[in-house]
Amino acid sequence: MGKLSGKVAIVTGAARGIGRSYALRLAELGADVGVIDIDLKSYLHFEKEKIGEKYESVVDEIKELGVKSFGVEADISEQDQVQTAINKIVGHLGEVDILVANAGGGSGPISGNAASEMDLEQLETVMKRNLNGTIYSVKAVVPGMKKKGYGKIVTVTSIAGLQSTYKGTYSHYGVTKAAIVSYTKYLAQDLGPYNITVNAIAPGYIGTGRLIEQFEREGVENYTNQTALKRLGTPEDCANVIEFLTTNLSDYVTGTTIHVTGGVVK
Ligand SMILES: NC(=O)c1ccc[n+]([C@@H]2O[C@H](COP(=O)([O-])OP(=O)(O)OC[C@H]3O[C@@H](n4cnc5c(N)ncnc54)[C@H](O)[C@@H]3O)[C@@H](O)[C@H]2O)c1
Repeated sequence: MGKLSGKVAIVTGAARGIGRSYALRLAELGADVGVIDIDLKSYLHFEKEKIGEKYESVVDEIKELGVKSFGVEADISEQDQVQTAINKIVGHLGEVDILVANAGGGSGPISGNAASEMDLEQLETVMKRNLNGTIYSVKAVVPGMKKKGYGKIVTVTSIAGLQSTYKGTYSHYGVTKAAIVSYTKYLAQDLGPYNITVNAIAPGYIGTGRLIEQFEREGVENYTNQTALKRLGTPEDCANVIEFLTTNLSDYVTGTTIHVTGGVVK
């Protein structure tokens, strides 16, 4: 029996990167895991994200761990698509106990979108993906959690939502991730009486298959030197915190943000 046997989890944006690690960790702990991603084969875009050839997607990897899984392609920025996807997952796996609202990201180069020159179209797109997508996912799972009188919700912010980049660039991303920290606090107060905890995880410089290429281009030391631990984070470092936030170890923890930055944010 795993710590999460009998539980149903959903991880958004789990087809690659950190989200895939979250989904696999929850499955290892015994949960049945639903996956939502705009592209269940998004791992194909980055050499270092490639998964074993016998797997079509993370859904197959999860099933191999001996639990149930169901994957749906949907755009997290579109409320009707999110609701339909979650309805399908609930139909296959049952009402949701755990949501990790991980799908998100910015747009354009890290040197773009200085705060005073923010591209409002990009802001709108990224806001819909990061903040609205989180809210849509929450709204779709909360009625089932209230019925159960149990729920664990984890939202995903970023180091960029906690502090500015050095030159104030990539601000369109940072402000949406900061908004997620605030939303998490409100949601925790709202849902606490229903025994639903809500916390945020704030990854720092995590060496995913997508970002490692950028870190290497710009010099890995430029990033590791900012950390107290003098190394990049790994998706597993983040999954360790997800294990805490989705199991009974965190039953009296709500409304908080856990920094997984290796000490960048002081
Ligand atoms: N990697 C890092 O260092 C880092 C640092 C801080 C925060 N984060 C946050 O962690 C989360 C995961 O980051 P990652 O580096 O693994 O990202 P990634 O880009 O490698 O993976 C994101 C996944 O989400 C999916 N996705 C993107 N847009 C979507 C949409 N509109 N609807 C549904 N699915 C969508 C993609 O297809 C992909 O599978 C993101 O919210 C990101 O902002 C990452």
